[in-house]
Amino acid sequence: MRQIAIFASGSGSNFQSLVDAVQSGTLKANIRLLVCDQPGAFVIHRAQTAGIPTFVFRAKDYENKQTFEQEILNELAHLGVDFIVLAGYMRLIGPTLLESFGGRIVNIHPSLLPSFPGKDAIGQAIEGGVKITGVTIHFVDAGMDTGEIIAQEIVRVTTGETRQSLQDKIQHVEHHLYPTTLNHLFLTTGH
Ligand code: GAR
Repeated sequence: MRQIAIFASGSGSNFQSLVDAVQSGTLKANIRLLVCDQPGAFVIHRAQTAGIPTFVFRAKDYENKQTFEQEILNELAHLGVDFIVLAGYMRLIGPTLLESFGGRIVNIHPSLLPSFPGKDAIGQAIEGGVKITGVTIHFVDAGMDTGEIIAQEIVRVTTGETRQSLQDKIQHVEHHLYPTTLNHLFLTTGH
């Protein structure tokens, strides 16, 4: 059984969908830890409610990325975590984590990559006037949303679409695509 850590920075609706999928048996994994870089984030409350341990930190309390990633790495090793799942973690993963978890870090992004990488992918889609956007699940490498794509699903942008309505549609897709894709990945790879 996969021992996973979920990294998140915000509300954690994707974190919740993964917790629910583990509880219902759709996702065969143990969620050992939430890593969160925003002490006020609602995702921390979700983890506490689900009884999942948390590692909460503030990047500015550390000298550099290497220092906090080393501390995270120690925690992951202590818990026997073998896979990292990013779910709205708004920070680039650095060499310290990448070197130890190469090929074992995945991310979810609210666009059809390589379109609209980086921050505010949903706003970029609205401003770009596209009729089709979607969700991408990909492996994480040193770049910004550049790693190998694992799965994608289309979301149509309809007339009069707002940022909020598009976000709702995208998140609806994310909440089923992430658990099912991860489960398939865990069953079919030796990772
Ligand atoms: C999700 O829509 C996820 O795709 C996006 O952040 C949101 C987090 O929502 N991630 C990125 O934009 C990464 N570049 P949540 O906190 O409700 O899960």
